[in-house]
Amino acid sequence: PIEHKIDSIISKMSLDEKIGQTAQRGKSSRVKELPKDLKEAVRNGHIGSFLNIMNKKDAKELQRIAVEESPSKIPLIFARDVIHGFKTIFPIPLGQAASFNPSLVKEGSRIAAIEASTYGIRWTFAPMIDIARDPRWGRIAESAGEDPYLTSKMAEAYVKGFQGDDLSSPTSLAACAKHFIGYGAAEGGRDYNTANINDNLLHNVYLKPFKTAVDAGSATFMTSFNDLNGVPASANSYILKDILREKWGFDGFVVSDWNSIIEMVNHGFAKDQKEAAEKSINAMLDMEMTSTSYQDHLKELIDESKFSEKELDEIVRNILRIKFRLGLFDNPYFDPNDSILYDKNHLLSAQNTAEESITLLKNENKILPIDAKKKIAIIGPLADAPHEQLGTWTFDGEKDHSITPLQAFKGDNNYMINYSKGLSYSRDKSDTEFDSAINVAKSSDVILFFAGEEAILSGEAHSRADINLPGAQEELIKELHKTGKPIILILMAGRPITLGNILDKVDAVLMAWHPGTMGGPALKNVITGVVSPSGKLPVSWPKVVGQIPIHYNHKNTGRPVVPEEFVHMDSIPIRAWQSSLGNTSHYLDAGFLPEYPFGYGLSYSTFKYSDISISSSNPKIGDIITVKVLVTNTGDVKAKETVQLYFRDLVGSLTRPVKELLRFEKIALNSGESKQFVFSFSTDDLSFYGLDKKWVTEPGDFKLWVATHALDESNELNFVLK
Ligand code: IFM
Repeated sequence: PIEHKIDSIISKMSLDEKIGQTAQRGKSSRVKELPKDLKEAVRNGHIGSFLNIMNKKDAKELQRIAVEESPSKIPLIFARDVIHGFKTIFPIPLGQAASFNPSLVKEGSRIAAIEASTYGIRWTFAPMIDIARDPRWGRIAESAGEDPYLTSKMAEAYVKGFQGDDLSSPTSLAACAKHFIGYGAAEGGRDYNTANINDNLLHNVYLKPFKTAVDAGSATFMTSFNDLNGVPASANSYILKDILREKWGFDGFVVSDWNSIIEMVNHGFAKDQKEAAEKSINAMLDMEMTSTSYQDHLKELIDESKFSEKELDEIVRNILRIKFRLGLFDNPYFDPNDSILYDKNHLLSAQNTAEESITLLKNENKILPIDAKKKIAIIGPLADAPHEQLGTWTFDGEKDHSITPLQAFKGDNNYMINYSKGLSYSRDKSDTEFDSAINVAKSSDVILFFAGEEAILSGEAHSRADINLPGAQEELIKELHKTGKPIILILMAGRPITLGNILDKVDAVLMAWHPGTMGGPALKNVITGVVSPSGKLPVSWPKVVGQIPIHYNHKNTGRPVVPEEFVHMDSIPIRAWQSSLGNTSHYLDAGFLPEYPFGYGLSYSTFKYSDISISSSNPKIGDIITVKVLVTNTGDVKAKETVQLYFRDLVGSLTRPVKELLRFEKIALNSGESKQFVFSFSTDDLSFYGLDKKWVTEPGDFKLWVATHALDESNELNFVLK
């Protein structure tokens, strides 16, 4: 029935109105009143969508004009970057991925949708599911990291959370899987840079989360800024038509990124905006964000038969379909009641997610958790930085609602706190208070040093060539180390931070990402042991920037590092060749191991894996394979563990990665408690996109690892696929 309604609307629309549906406009926040020409454009049916209209009165008025006064009375769709929360800010997506807990991610995005919809927003430009293997790239903060399977699980959770059970509910947001595609593969991690991704890598790694987003029902997609193998994504008909529409059957609509159509002139792919519009519209890019090349040139292009009105009808159909599914034709207005903002359940959920995202990387002599009798020095630029702890892309989160770690500790009489900021901003060396920090340290038993990056150091156009702690932070840590007091380094940052200069000066490292509104209470609970940390790294953590790109699921090469030596990382034997001898694939000065591998994260407890079994060591193609493992909490405290299952296809018609994440599951175990984890997968899950451009599962030898991180090979299973 929706399609019939759409037919009937389109049959009566003028060409101008059809072009109008493809236009997304904003309003400068500097302009107070709604400009007359904007209202007029809506009245004439020349605008299909707005972004960033944050005045509820304006949103209502624009919608009223659209549905009451425009020729076809088509409702507008209002969009916003609601990335990791609206008012209640959750950890940055890289942190949420570290929780390895898709149900928390789904809950968080549902909450974001409930809050954002009170402003009339029915479309979020999220989730960002670009595979990101380069921590120099500022937008890694918005991603779920380096792994296609983990990112796919996160993609599904975000889409289902934003869109809810019923897209037509007034509290549902249309999701937007972005950026399609290759944005995260920007050469050198420099934002907007060219991405060269061969077809097999594209399908086996970069496209996977986007396919999952389609399967989860993502209503919209956004193209990326980058040039992909010579063809900018915004005019790439291979990805937009052949893959997204034809192969995957996507029936929602695709929006460009901000000006990304006209930027094809800069790319050297179009001689002017008209040609850019021609190329994008022929790739069936449905809606243009902010720039006006469609508005200015589509009519002409149709007159010149460079595009047809019939094809434009398809584009309008895609856009109207989503407006119908959102229920906007029946219910174009919104409930402006904002008593739901910062609801206590929203704050609690944000805190739970922050707690589960916090990742313990080092804990010498079990310095953590700290006990209440100790005198605590709280030092560092991120200890009381209500805005910075929110992270990138938090247009609507208000710092006045943040609870910082300092506030959280101060609010609890059980703790004796001394505070010195030590330095003003992480990047400002001139404004330091080293003496005061050292005095505070000397009069305390333990130092909590809150370091990292301000929110602005990651995100769009905020790439870094050096990913050490910025500014004078390392210097201060070295000075504090001289006091002989134990240092617990708590990091808030949008990316892994290389720690080589100070790692041996600190006793513990907790990665808190940018933890959001409730970062303070979450960190206090983890630091004091109310909660055991359970975050696992969604991205390999390099020792030095020169190791980048470094990701666990690399290929073996013809000269892999020889496993003749074992190094020990927290008593788990890791195959490694750390010597500079041997003609193998490594750096003379940095070996080949990261500082911390993908999937890594310590707990206050310990876990034993036993009774590991596989349903068959000779499965056939088409079988379901089951792996079981008994996990026992052998420590003293209740804790959560994420068991990870990796596989390797030993020989392929295309070389295969040395390891691929196949399944994971996180569960809570009381001290002494055991639970069985059961992982099931089909042989399709072992398939790859081959040279003949088909997905194939090849018979042969496979290895599986039931592991606590990507380099843990202590529990290996083998099977031969017939
Ligand atoms: O959604 C974003 C996108 O990720 C980057 N450019 C701007 C868009 C709208 O704000």
